[in-house]
Amino acid sequence: MTATARHLGPLDRFLDQTQRALETVLGAPVAERPNPAAGEPDIVMADEERRHSAGLMRINHVGEVCAQALYTGQAAVARDEATRAHLLAAAQEETDHLAWCADRLRELDSRPSLLNALWYGGSYAIGVAAGLRGDGWNLGFVVETERQVEAHIDEHLASLPADDHRSRAILRVMKADEARHADNAEAAGARVLPFPIPRVMAAASKLMKTVAYRI
Ligand SMILES: [Fe+2]
Ligand SMILES: [Fe+2]
Repeated sequence: MTATARHLGPLDRFLDQTQRALETVLGAPVAERPNPAAGEPDIVMADEERRHSAGLMRINHVGEVCAQALYTGQAAVARDEATRAHLLAAAQEETDHLAWCADRLRELDSRPSLLNALWYGGSYAIGVAAGLRGDGWNLGFVVETERQVEAHIDEHLASLPADDHRSRAILRVMKADEARHADNAEAAGARVLPFPIPRVMAAASKLMKTVAYRI
């Protein structure tokens, strides 16, 4: 019994993490909140505009895949239960974002990135590496990630075709959520990440955006 109890914890956690990864990469995650686009008109756009919207929403979808992976990786090695709970709660809201972006991609006759398994694996590894540095760093990573996501959502809000009200409605709610995630992590004791980490993260995110717009 003692031996079983000793082995169940890590095994349960491993299975939970594997299930999360598969759901994120392969499955269709289910949102808890209603899709913010629901009340907006679905205006038929010219092909070029529709493709541009799909490229931007694919980037946002990949961003959410990365957020899931980062937070799950960070939670796996978090030292403090409160930090772990904080990370998993943020990951739950990111699931809504993931589902809404996937819905919008389908409406735009498009698909998520073909490289999602790669994005997930890379981000998970970064999450574990950040988490191993301690909980202050862990939360610092959340703040930096969320602020960068907020910034690229702003770019997308400006760049989306004027008629794409449905994508815009989703991005507005996502932006408000990401700002709250960053504020919460700051309040929970995030440390400011030293140079050059924010720069490296911004460069990695730029590469991701360039690739995910197309693939
Ligand atoms: Fe998100
Ligand atoms: Fe977030």
